[in-house]
Parts: sequence; structure tokens; C-alpha cells
Amino acid sequence: MKFFVDTAEIKDIKDLAATGMLDGVTTNPTLIAKSGRDFVEVIKEICSIVDGPVSAEVTALDTEGMIAEGEKLAKIAENIAIKVPLTWDGLKACKHFTSKGTMVNVTLCFSAAQALLAAKAGATFISPFVGRLDDIGQNGMDLIADICQIYSMYPNIETEVLVASIRNPNHIIDAAKMGAHVATIPPSVLRQLIHHPLTDKGLAAFVEDIKKSGQKVA
Ligand code: G3P
Repeated sequence: MKFFVDTAEIKDIKDLAATGMLDGVTTNPTLIAKSGRDFVEVIKEICSIVDGPVSAEVTALDTEGMIAEGEKLAKIAENIAIKVPLTWDGLKACKHFTSKGTMVNVTLCFSAAQALLAAKAGATFISPFVGRLDDIGQNGMDLIADICQIYSMYPNIETEVLVASIRNPNHIIDAAKMGAHVATIPPSVLRQLIHHPLTDKGLAAFVEDIKKSGQKVA
């Protein structure tokens, strides 16, 4: 499973890239606004840190506008994935870019029917939002299960399931069990993945025991 980080904060991206675990980055207009930085400048900087796909979202609502914005964004770096919303206009823009070989992430997916449309539009990634479904009392992971099952029935579908709106480590583990290709994870949740109290306890005991024995390796 690939790990993308869902942020526009350069400090977090650099820190997590240094672990060697980072396969890409996703941003959205909210995350860009939160960073307080210029959109193009911050995307350019992210692309210089990470080799994998970096999603940059268009803000136009019509196909023409999305294509104009997407063309500008695609010029920033080769690893840009144009992010478009799951609307008919977005799907038309998706088809335009993927037929030219540019990666596209179709975002704001909340149903299996929408995911099927994105695959038909040749999307590189489909982004179903699990947390936001949980927030309204639906089960976000049921949607991931449905999409993974449907996509697996058709070997010609190359669209990768990119699980978004992740709120906790269980979302990632459940998505991995279902065979989702990518999880885009907030930095705080990605850092949580390593924690286990028995690891900390065991390590403290090993350090103490070797100290007591009076030995060290080097
Ligand atoms: O980038 C899309 C998605 O991950 C947003 O997550 O937490 O705003 O629902 P959230």
C-alpha cells in the first residue's frame, strides 16, 4: 500500500519524506489556504521534495476552466496529478488530461457509482472520503470495500483507490485489508502508526538489562 501525506505543510512533508515511507502528497484548497502560502509556490516546493505524485486541485467549476488551470499546474513538475471534483465537468476534464498522459485524481467521491464513472473517465486515482461519510453516520469503509470489489472485477480498470479523509490508524488498516492501493494520511495520523506501548516497554527493558550487565556493542 502506498502512503501519501494529506497536507501542504512543508515542515511535515520534509520530516515524513526523511522516513523513506512517503510515496506522494495530496493537497486541496482548504489545506493550501491553511498553509497561508501562494498556491503555485507551495506546490512547486512540494514537488521538489517528493518524487511521487503530488495532487494539486483545480478551483474552476467548468471543464474549460479546469483544463486551463490544470494545464498551468501540470507545467509545474512531471509528478503533478491534477485533482478535479466528481462532477460531469470534472470527469470531462479528467478524460482530457488522462488521454494526454497527465495523472488525474478525481476527488469528493462518496458513492460506488461515482467511482465507476471516474474509472470510465480514465482517472489515475479515485478519492473516496471515508471520514466525512463516518461523520454523517454512514460507514466510510463500506464504500472502500464496494469500490475495491467492483474495480477488481474489471482487469482493464487501472484507476487506483486512494482512501482520503482518513481520521485514524484503523481506517488505514481496514483499507489495506481491502487491497486499496493508496492511503492519503494527515501527518498526525501517519505518525501514530508506529506507536505501541509494548514496543516502548520492551525497549526500555532491553536498554536497562544491557546497562545492568555492564556490556555494550560499541
Ligand atoms: O484531501 C482530501 C481529504 O483527505 C480531506 O479530508 O479531513 O478534510 O475530510 P478531511
